[in-house]
Amino acid sequence: MPQPPTIPAALILVPLLFFFFFTGPVFAWRPWPNQTLNKTESIFGGSKKYEGSSDLIQLKYHMGPILTNNITIYPIWYGSWKNSQKRIIREFLSSISAVDSKPPSVAGWWKTVQLYTDQTGANISRHVHIGAEKNDRLYSHGKSLTRLSVQSVIKSAVTSTTRPLPINPKSGVYLLLTSEEVYVQDFCNNVCGFHYFTFPSIVGYTLPYAWVGNSAKLCPGVCAYPFAAPAYIPGLKAVKSPNSDVGVDGMISVIAHEIAEVSTNPLVNAWYAGEDPVFPVEIADLCEGIYGTGGGGSYTGQMFNGEDGATYNMNGIRRRFLVQWVWNHLVNYCTGPNALDQ
Ligand SMILES: *[C@@H]1O[C@H](CO)[C@@H](O)[C@H](O)[C@H]1NC(C)=O
Ligand SMILES: *[C@@H]1O[C@H](CO)[C@@H](O)[C@H](O)[C@H]1NC(C)=O
Ligand SMILES: *[C@@H]1O[C@H](CO)[C@@H](O)[C@H](O)[C@H]1NC(C)=O
Ligand SMILES: *[C@@H]1O[C@H](CO)[C@@H](O)[C@H](O)[C@H]1NC(C)=O
Repeated sequence: MPQPPTIPAALILVPLLFFFFFTGPVFAWRPWPNQTLNKTESIFGGSKKYEGSSDLIQLKYHMGPILTNNITIYPIWYGSWKNSQKRIIREFLSSISAVDSKPPSVAGWWKTVQLYTDQTGANISRHVHIGAEKNDRLYSHGKSLTRLSVQSVIKSAVTSTTRPLPINPKSGVYLLLTSEEVYVQDFCNNVCGFHYFTFPSIVGYTLPYAWVGNSAKLCPGVCAYPFAAPAYIPGLKAVKSPNSDVGVDGMISVIAHEIAEVSTNPLVNAWYAGEDPVFPVEIADLCEGIYGTGGGGSYTGQMFNGEDGATYNMNGIRRRFLVQWVWNHLVNYCTGPNALDQ
């Protein structure tokens, strides 16, 4: 989800617009706290190909830049992070370009993102790597961040007197990761992460960035679903997470969501659906909550069960991850490397 900074109502309107425009199933799904769930509509049988396909979706290219050069991700670890947690996230990021991983793989998932091109016909880069990292252990801007103070955290990271992050507006993605004690505006209520670009007036540069929070304390049943389930929706069951950390395993799919979107829409003028750029609906928004064949509504689709009982849908370099699918604009449905009909 992008961050429309001036019109918070947009965040509430996006799901509403979906509800009204697309009569029929609501396919982008998370157990948001105040969403009314129509069980009849949202639980599907496995008989027909669903996975969010719709002739009504007009995902369009709006001529802006996309990330076609080698992509460098600069993680900013805000608050208190264990090394074991950082390792899971770093390994996921490194898996995006690890084409030799066992299929279905994270690199296979990225192939759908690579299908997107710019005006010159250049595709999204296949190379995503981790650049310099920054720790902000002492919560430089407090334990409750607003959408604007998120930009100030990034400013501190790129202007720090000791080892500032490089300035890379063309192919850098600044990934702010907040630890479980940190609240960010709208977290849990209608966002688990967002991406946007920094304002020159605040940061000095226009830098694409994304924020993703660890929801373990605040709302695992929403942002780490299905590794935790919210109490207010009876019948939803949690599954075991693949790397034994519910909050971080839940962040992986949100990080994937934001990186897919920031790559295809870094300045929010490239790939999105909807006529109004204030309400862009991007390639991962369309497939939120869909992890496998048959997915849609509150059904996640077919996933795998490991021998240890963990649920996942793709392999990375050494670990397994559960990552939502993304929209394929060539065929007009959500897809992923674990699709059964490939
Ligand atoms: C859900 O709605 C109720 C009543 O409108 C409100 O009191 C509550 O704060 C909302 N919950 C969240 C997480 O926004
Ligand atoms: C749920 O959706 C179904 C199918 O669209 C509809 O027939 C039913 O009336 C809805 N139920 C509620 C409580 O809105
Ligand atoms: C892009 O990354 C690949 C793999 O790391 C590397 O071989 C290549 O030289 C890089 N290209 C540029 C222009 O840096
Ligand atoms: C680049 O995008 C085009 C158009 O979507 C697609 O046909 C082609 O396979 C893509 N190339 C790569 C390397 O993904």
